[in-house]
Amino acid sequence: GKRTTVPSIRGRKVEGKTEQPIVMLTAYTMRMAQLLDPHCDMLLVGDSLGQVIYGLPSTIPVTLDMMCAHGAAVVRGSWHALVGVDMPFGSYEESPEQAFASAAHVLKETGCAAVKLEGGEAMAETIDFLTHRGIPVIGHVGLTPQAVNVLGGYGVRGREGMEADKILADAVAVADAGAFVMVVEGVMEELATRIAKEVAIPVIGIGASAQCDGQVLVTEDMLGLFERTPRFVKRYHDLAGEIAGAAQKYAEEVRSRTFPSSEQTYRPKS
Ligand code: KIV
Ligand code: NA
Repeated sequence: GKRTTVPSIRGRKVEGKTEQPIVMLTAYTMRMAQLLDPHCDMLLVGDSLGQVIYGLPSTIPVTLDMMCAHGAAVVRGSWHALVGVDMPFGSYEESPEQAFASAAHVLKETGCAAVKLEGGEAMAETIDFLTHRGIPVIGHVGLTPQAVNVLGGYGVRGREGMEADKILADAVAVADAGAFVMVVEGVMEELATRIAKEVAIPVIGIGASAQCDGQVLVTEDMLGLFERTPRFVKRYHDLAGEIAGAAQKYAEEVRSRTFPSSEQTYRPKS
């Protein structure tokens, strides 16, 4: 089979309607990508890897080198999904030229098809610059975690009318600038509905209601690897419990000398 293309994702939304919602999950490693790929239209190498993989307090310290290493691993582990990679904080905001140099570098290093960057009206010129030079862009508006120090936290956005109007204007600007799809994060259902209606390109929600044209979650959250997750996360599994259980059993068997048994032991053939 052929890998999912940018035009095929863009084409999922026709005259404001999406028949088949877009399925997206994050992936940071080869093996996880292999397991998720058959079920997803898009895999996102999110800068959430800062917290999920590296234990960082936010996505702010994530580097382009981290995105390159994990992006390459996810491309190696996938064959069907379109793989997008996050531009980390500080690698694109300064100018369209800076963004192009960073995005070209990460696409060359990884083989990803598209980059994602956070921001609305302020990033419109950059999105236009990249798309006219061969780099497909995934937008990201609403709760933008790289702006945590400005926003003061990770609370839901667009509760208040003026803020909702600004986020809608951001979404429209991102679409008009040429993004082929956008993530809308952490907004009230009413605002998500307005965005999905106003914007011609597919809108992929996270904590943004069922009114969107697709959904994304952080895979480790969805799998139940973390104790604390936001309200919008649905846990499809208890991976933390399974891993802790396996580690406990292994520890017991090593201490009681029941592992390794003869089955796991090399001996001369008799
Ligand atoms: O970094 C990330 O994982 C993301 C998704 C949650 C959209 O940006
Ligand atoms: Na991100």
